[in-house]
Amino acid sequence: MRIKNICCIGAGYVGGPTMAVIAQKCPKVKVTVVDINEKRIKQWNNPDVEKIPIYEPGLSEIVKEARGRNLFFSTDVDKAIDEADMIFISVNTPTKTYGIGKGMAADLRYIELCARQIAAVAKTDKIVIEKSTLPVRTAAALRDILDSTGNGVKYQILSNPEFLAEGTAVEDLKNPDRVLIGGEIETEEGREAVDALVNIYASWVPREKILTTNVWSSELSKLTANAFLAQRVSSINAMSELCEKTGADINEVSKAIGMDSRIGSKFLKASVGFGGSCFQKDILNLVYIARTFNLKEVADYWEQVILMNDHQKRRFAANMVQTMYNTVAGKKIAILGWAFKKDTNDTRESAAIYVADYLLNEQAEIVVYDPKVTEEQIYSDLDYLGSRSGDANRQAVTVVDSPYEACEGAHAIAVLTEWDEFKELDWQKLYDQMLKPAFLFDGRRLLESKSKKEIGFEFYAIGN
Ligand code: NAD
Ligand code: UGA
Repeated sequence: MRIKNICCIGAGYVGGPTMAVIAQKCPKVKVTVVDINEKRIKQWNNPDVEKIPIYEPGLSEIVKEARGRNLFFSTDVDKAIDEADMIFISVNTPTKTYGIGKGMAADLRYIELCARQIAAVAKTDKIVIEKSTLPVRTAAALRDILDSTGNGVKYQILSNPEFLAEGTAVEDLKNPDRVLIGGEIETEEGREAVDALVNIYASWVPREKILTTNVWSSELSKLTANAFLAQRVSSINAMSELCEKTGADINEVSKAIGMDSRIGSKFLKASVGFGGSCFQKDILNLVYIARTFNLKEVADYWEQVILMNDHQKRRFAANMVQTMYNTVAGKKIAILGWAFKKDTNDTRESAAIYVADYLLNEQAEIVVYDPKVTEEQIYSDLDYLGSRSGDANRQAVTVVDSPYEACEGAHAIAVLTEWDEFKELDWQKLYDQMLKPAFLFDGRRLLESKSKKEIGFEFYAIGN
């Protein structure tokens, strides 16, 4: 089966970069990324590629190369579905905010809408691919919806979860550890569909890294991978608190355990808490699934990863207040970094939002600097929490374009994203501008401590 036309529904953090790389690597395949969000599509089509809606190192160059050649962004969802042989569903699957499973289960309404739209529009056979992260057995629901139109169109449903991490999306897509494809490998049609997708990836990924499984294993592997990764962060963060009480240093502990090849050195960096759109939502979803099968111990076990993460964010903020003589009311606190990690403009579930909210509840004045996050986004993140009115957020929080401006006259600095540029700041200059004693809280273990203490900072770093 030769694929000539690909459609991807959802032009977000996954759909955009993934399709850009497919288009770059398969120049003979036409790739159309569609979205109902007109503003987002307009941004993807911005003649100035530096203004595309997602910041990822290397992405704008790829968009520049492929856009208009075989990569297109459009709001005409029906047309793209109609023309495609292969349709990726890459829409958001947030945590439900209403009804059964509120606060836990994945909200599948956008997925279902896509399936219904495909069923309504398709006139020729299609391979439909779950790119979004979904609860195990979602493919069965998709099949029900797609098969119920009775118009004779045949569908193959594949699961092809995405493992890219933001900030390194392009590199992860170009050189993935593995590509996972789940399909009905026991039937001939199912195998053909799997092969068609394998062939797309094989344009640049070595065959031995392309793993094929049954659909359910593929769906569950994605949730499992995120749960394991998040668990490592919560595990090291749990140890960071113990380090602070005992004189051990979390970086030394990480190094010591990471050299054990069975443990491995990656994902052992203590932090103010993991953020991002997926770890929390996917674990909550996993917990919910376990609960629906009455697997109480399994559910409780994984839920602890989230509880530990919430504790870490709260504990960091509480420690700031305690260190600053138990009050931050009326004090100016500079937050350096708002994104949930470096090299992305994504702020979803960023620890910075929760630390700022905690400090605002203590009546601090906050000034934020982040090299990639807009003022509009920062206010929208705080407003979304609903802790106070939009006006109150705008009164208590200022967003500035320079770290030096942020720190002028501040009582304290909190480093909450590990942007490389923060290491290179003129820390003496920052210190000179601040009120004394000048507190510096490093939530990322980014800064070298000795030189900061020599300058005169009251320096606190997580896990030290
Ligand atoms: P996103 O919110 O950035 O993008 C989703 C897009 O889908 C939005 O632009 C939205 O307008 C669009 N959309 C929703 N319903 C639509 C419809 N019916 N028709 C057309 N467009 C529609 O989300 P994301 O971060 O790209 O995540 C997408 C999925 O991928 C999620 O399931 C997520 O768990 C998973 N995932 C995300 C990442 C990541 O790094 N962000 C990594 C791996 C997997
Ligand atoms: C994560 C996974 O790494 C991807 O494989 C997955 O595809 C993606 O979720 C998803 O499903 O959305 P992402 O959230 O983009 O990717 O970024 P990570 O690098 O995993 O970082 C997540 C959070 O954990 C960040 O806040 C980061 O600062 C934090 N983290 C990570 C630590 O605190 N310590 C670490 O050692 C590693």
